[in-house]
Amino acid sequence: MHPKLRKLIEKHLYTTNEYGVEHQDPSAKVPDELLTYFKREHSLKTDVHKTCITCQIRQFQKYGSNRIKCSYIPRKLPDGAASKIAEISKSTNIPKEQATKILKASIDPVAWTELMFGFSDKDPKWFLRNYQKEQIRCTSKRLVVREGRRSGKTFAIALKLIYYAFNTKLDRGRDAQGNTVYMGPAIMIVTPYQAQLTNIFEEMEKLVKRNVELKSEITSGTGDSLYIKTPTYKMVFRNGCTIQGFVSGIGIRSDGSGGGTMRGQSASIVYLDEMDMIPEEVLDKVINPILATTPETILIATSTPIGKKGKFHEWCSNRDDFREDFLPSSVIPHWEEIKEEVLRDSTQESFMAEYMAVFVEDLKGVFKKEWVYNARLDYTYDETYNDGHLKRKLGLKSTSNCIKAIGIDWNKNAGTEFYVVGFYPQDRIWIGLDAVNVPHSEFSAKRWIRELVDLNHKWKPDHIYADEGYGHTIIEDIKYQSYTLRAKKDKTPKEEETVLIADRLVSFNFSSNIKLKDPITNADIKKSGKHFLVENAVRILQDGLFKFPVDDLILKDQFFNYIVEKRNKQTNKPVYGKQNEKVGDHRLDAFMLALGGLVLEESIYSGNQMTPSMPTFHKIEALKVAYRSPNDEIKSLYDQKKQQANPGALNILKIMRGGGSEEEDRMIKEKYKQQGLWPDDRKRSRSRSINKEEEFSLLEGINTYQGTQQGMQPISELKHAPKRGRFGRKKRSWR
Ligand SMILES: Nc1ncnc2c1ncn2[C@@H]1O[C@H](COP(=O)(O)OP(=O)(O)O)[C@@H](O)[C@H]1O
Ligand SMILES: [Mg+2]
Repeated sequence: MHPKLRKLIEKHLYTTNEYGVEHQDPSAKVPDELLTYFKREHSLKTDVHKTCITCQIRQFQKYGSNRIKCSYIPRKLPDGAASKIAEISKSTNIPKEQATKILKASIDPVAWTELMFGFSDKDPKWFLRNYQKEQIRCTSKRLVVREGRRSGKTFAIALKLIYYAFNTKLDRGRDAQGNTVYMGPAIMIVTPYQAQLTNIFEEMEKLVKRNVELKSEITSGTGDSLYIKTPTYKMVFRNGCTIQGFVSGIGIRSDGSGGGTMRGQSASIVYLDEMDMIPEEVLDKVINPILATTPETILIATSTPIGKKGKFHEWCSNRDDFREDFLPSSVIPHWEEIKEEVLRDSTQESFMAEYMAVFVEDLKGVFKKEWVYNARLDYTYDETYNDGHLKRKLGLKSTSNCIKAIGIDWNKNAGTEFYVVGFYPQDRIWIGLDAVNVPHSEFSAKRWIRELVDLNHKWKPDHIYADEGYGHTIIEDIKYQSYTLRAKKDKTPKEEETVLIADRLVSFNFSSNIKLKDPITNADIKKSGKHFLVENAVRILQDGLFKFPVDDLILKDQFFNYIVEKRNKQTNKPVYGKQNEKVGDHRLDAFMLALGGLVLEESIYSGNQMTPSMPTFHKIEALKVAYRSPNDEIKSLYDQKKQQANPGALNILKIMRGGGSEEEDRMIKEKYKQQGLWPDDRKRSRSRSINKEEEFSLLEGINTYQGTQQGMQPISELKHAPKRGRFGRKKRSWR
């Protein structure tokens, strides 16, 4: 295309807002020069609504072609309309203006919507915005709306769906008399979260209730409600139309149920709201089959980009069969009134993505947007205490053997954050269980200790990790109190738990180094506390192993706010920081402490853990099932070696498991046995052939043991380590 033409298009079809974001101009006027050119070069269709003209040109410019399937919006009332209007006006005794509206409503969705719900361009509070009108009118089989927050996407599409519900007639064959049977469409709405779905149905209900006639056409719901909520959200119309709603987030429930109800549905209209947050997996497994079996299905998607290049990005940028609308929130009529508040609460990056609707790559962010969105699930912290409920809600296999930790971070301004995390071994998943903030104003050692005692009693955590920063003396205080309580007679159940705080509570210094054990070589790995906590959290989020409630916006925003500020010149280690000071990072720190605490204490990195991650067939001399003390072990090893006539001096290392006492060694061996890690007679006979071989094959070992108790386990997995304190204290390097 000639640069001059390109310039012309940019000038007339696009506009640039005060933040430098260029977007389509919803009130564009196309100059004749462009009309002529595109008519000649691309056979532009011009006897259509102006919306369709700009849309065609945009498509030609973007892709060089236009494969949008649509039936074009007529430019004006058809011929003979004037006499029809006169006729209606006369026969029904209504003013001509009203008659015009009625006739228009029969061909124009916007006119219908205005007529039914009372929108008027003359009403400053109740009018349809020009871009919403375009969306309501558009007949494209594929429509993708990329707009900033609060710009009215959901509202516009809700209106469009209602229009379709009342005005689409699908041919359903003939009845016994040979008459054609028509039926309303099956409409399917998919949203990532429950709250969104509720919002759409409430919005549609509110709209329909504005018009008694329309309301009487709806047959679903009881009492005041126009729709049912179980088993799925559903609104039913007298003409047979149904609008059904589904939440996609549950598609990632760990048991793979949920989302399932969506599968196998057919629909003539599918609407995906906040599509970028719908897991790609759900789009692939649920939406694609529908489009494949019923290609005539109308597909509408609206979203604000979340900072990934997924399907939404593809539909917006690489598909010449999709009409894309791209509008930032600055097109909202009352933008001036809200923009300051919006800017105050945003980071540069979140503003560009969420309000300017730009596809930004989050390069600086430590936690990728996609991971964070995938981590959000439809539940609340209020629902986590009841195991049965949690199991049902999140589709967990089992809640038994859960390992819990509380993380505590404090700050003079933000107050104290407590975050509770649980690891569910059967599901191999980490779940956010509780978040408590004690505001700065209430900050006192007493208040703090009370909260900790309460949470400790409520959750009975295995570990409590607290930022040493401000709280050093308080930590010593509470440990002392917990110790002194030990001697008390007739302790209440709560006091019984409080006694355990002394063992559970660890004060963690972010800047000091911690020591981990390499699970394979048993070598020490040194890391700064901070780096460990962050890398650990990143890994678990990246693997999709952590879930937290969708309504915890504080944690969500803090995830997004956390960035790599710069890198250390010598070590190239990242220096972490916050993009927007106001958003803070204290809940995030508490979360990372809880998560890190669990990994430090219970994972294969802790050095406290037995070694579950390796194939555990060591070439040990066959051992009797009965207990053997370490002394007996070395004696038999020595004898054996002597028999084999080992030349020279022979050194045999004695292995004392645990803290060094024979009692502990015995217990640990017992545990190995229970877990099938200790070769007993039966196992020995089976593995004899392997034992005989000089060199065992690693691969063979992995294949044999994979998926079994002795096999490989992902690194982020936990198992209860031997309890601390029982056999004397083990040293933590980061205390
Ligand atoms: N044309 C309109 N007239 C009146 N209210 C509107 C209009 N468009 C949107 N709204 C309202 O503005 C708010 C934001 O709209 P919504 O559709 O939820 O935005 P989005 O989905 O783009 O975030 C909602 O409360 C909605 O009811
Ligand atoms: Mg919305």
